[in-house]
Amino acid sequence: MARRRIHGLRGILTGSSSGIGSALAANLVRDGARLVVVARREQRLRELCDSLKGSPGEIIPLVGDLIDATIQQESIDHAIEMLGGLDLLINNAGVGAMGQFADASPERLRQVMEVNFFAAVELTRRALPALRKGVSPIIVNVSSILGHRGVPGCAEYCASKFALEGFSQSIRAELAREGIDVLVVSPARTKTEFFDRAIDANGTPWPSIRGMSSEAVARRIVRAIRRGQHQLIISLGGKSLVWVSRLFPGIVDRVLARYH
Ligand SMILES: NC(=O)c1ccc[n+]([C@@H]2O[C@H](COP(=O)([O-])OP(=O)(O)OC[C@H]3O[C@@H](n4cnc5c(N)ncnc54)[C@H](OP(=O)(O)O)[C@@H]3O)[C@@H](O)[C@H]2O)c1
Repeated sequence: MARRRIHGLRGILTGSSSGIGSALAANLVRDGARLVVVARREQRLRELCDSLKGSPGEIIPLVGDLIDATIQQESIDHAIEMLGGLDLLINNAGVGAMGQFADASPERLRQVMEVNFFAAVELTRRALPALRKGVSPIIVNVSSILGHRGVPGCAEYCASKFALEGFSQSIRAELAREGIDVLVVSPARTKTEFFDRAIDANGTPWPSIRGMSSEAVARRIVRAIRRGQHQLIISLGGKSLVWVSRLFPGIVDRVLARYH
């Protein structure tokens, strides 16, 4: 667990065109980090970069789909060529999916796993050689409270975040000797476009107006990166759900089965 300065950190941040990723990019660059930011919506990335002109750090946009291995490799190449190396990888890009598993297509599971799990894992694999040469290197995987407790109506999403959590625990132990930290961030509900853009949302009235602001979540993540934390479960409600599920899994199962 290394304490690190944000100023001068060279990083890749995925999913930076909105929500938590966009707020995180702004916080890091204002604190002097130098970032390659990746997402598909070019206009959003351009607006983010414009809004950060004159900040102490640097921001370099890369437009593309992270499922694509070429974009994964390009993001690493950009960091090495334009920033001179890599100290920080933040796998934040994610997609949700709504509805009962029994009603869903196999494609829905594939789509969710491709973005939330495979893209993050393969980007990590490609980033490792550069991270090994980095200064106080750290990998940050943005998971969810639902990576600790499965709930009805989003089985594919929960599975993808559980997978990311398990992967992170394994590589944390594998990379510890090399001095590479692995932080897993588990936000609770956050006010972003996430729910409106979820696969099969079909106008489902999710109460996306409730929850934390992406700015508050971003500030907590920056603090955890600075401190070299390994786990960040955001919000009291989130922490309560995780602990009640660990201590009384049977009761939580029964409550969820009755009230979903
Ligand atoms: N909001 C919540 O309540 C909540 C709670 C717990 C965890 N989380 C997690 O927090 C992370 C950020 O979500 P958010 O709430 O900020 O939602 P968001 O505003 O919808 O942001 C998702 C980001 O991921 C990017 N993305 C999605 N698919 C991509 C792909 N194939 N290639 C490249 N970029 C892709 C999106 O950019 P483009 O569409 O422009 O590509 C966007 O920048 C996700 O991992 C999510 O699972 C969110």
